[in-house]
Amino acid sequence: MRITKATANLEAYTPGEQPKSKSVVKLNTNENPYPPSPRCAKVLKDFDLDKLRRYPDPVFTALREEIAALNGTKAENVFVGNGSDEILTLAARAFVENDELIASLNPSYSLYKTLAAIRDVKWVGSPADAAEIDIPKNTSLFLWTNPNAPTGGFVSPKKISAFAKKFDGVVIVDEAYADFAKMNCMALATAVKNRNLIVMRTFSKSYSLAGLRVGYCVGPADLIEALYKIKDSYNVDAIAQAVALAALKDRAYHAKTVKRVVDTRESFTAELRTLGWDVPQSEANFVFARPAKMPASELFAALRERNIYVRYFPGPLTGDRLRITIGTPSEMKKLLSVLKKLKA
Ligand SMILES: Cc1ncc(COP(=O)(O)O)c(C=O)c1O
Repeated sequence: MRITKATANLEAYTPGEQPKSKSVVKLNTNENPYPPSPRCAKVLKDFDLDKLRRYPDPVFTALREEIAALNGTKAENVFVGNGSDEILTLAARAFVENDELIASLNPSYSLYKTLAAIRDVKWVGSPADAAEIDIPKNTSLFLWTNPNAPTGGFVSPKKISAFAKKFDGVVIVDEAYADFAKMNCMALATAVKNRNLIVMRTFSKSYSLAGLRVGYCVGPADLIEALYKIKDSYNVDAIAQAVALAALKDRAYHAKTVKRVVDTRESFTAELRTLGWDVPQSEANFVFARPAKMPASELFAALRERNIYVRYFPGPLTGDRLRITIGTPSEMKKLLSVLKKLKA
């Protein structure tokens, strides 16, 4: 057979549905309901096509320097990927031997398990609600999503730091949703004493640029250098570099849209609780909520029939809840009125 066993046996990752119709209320993939900064539109409009004739900057110098400045670190401590998903793939190659394990919270971002399977190593999950992380000794990469997905739960940087200090492998704090949270771990990643902790961010959520495919990470120079060594030569295209840079520089716009999403999250959480739903406090741009009366799987299907897309993850840890992305206030109002009609 020409296909490796690991690939042939792989249970591929299933991304959230991307419906064709624009008229659906799409609350299933944690995208931002607001457009990217108007500066991104300007960059695209003015983009010099001649730049596409040539290869892009392989080490994304301008973008990297801006990320470094924003986070109070040096360019040598910054890596940029074709989405943060690419950084995860590279980390699984750079930091894990064939007989070592990849671990994460459980439940968490389900791609981690798939990445381990692609890499043909074992994945192990440590219960997300447990007081301590419990993983085998030969774990060499721990992917700590904070705020967590799909739960929205948040762990203090202090706790993550204490874990990293005791851990021999590499900790990647996946902060895809951190801009919606009160605190983050960036200061741990930029600390002089840090030897094994990387913080990863994305432009897909708070910057409204999921379609652009740009993510970045900050960490110790030797770990960052390892990622550069194994990446594709031109992993971030010229347009993506320019648009991401423009988005990053428009700090005021970013802060404004993040605040809108957070405000809507808080009011939507309160409304769901009034309906009798169980809604744990979320620090992300989604809530992971248990309906008051209807089973989550049935409600998921009923909403879909009404052109409202949310996310349902079957299974013992997640199957009694729906993950609902925070949209605009009018989208949430529409959803709430349907939930009331369905007596969910
Ligand atoms: C926890 C987490 N990490 C990473 C990603 C991937 O982000 P990107 O679009 O940058 O690849 C997602 C996307 O949903 C996510 O939920």
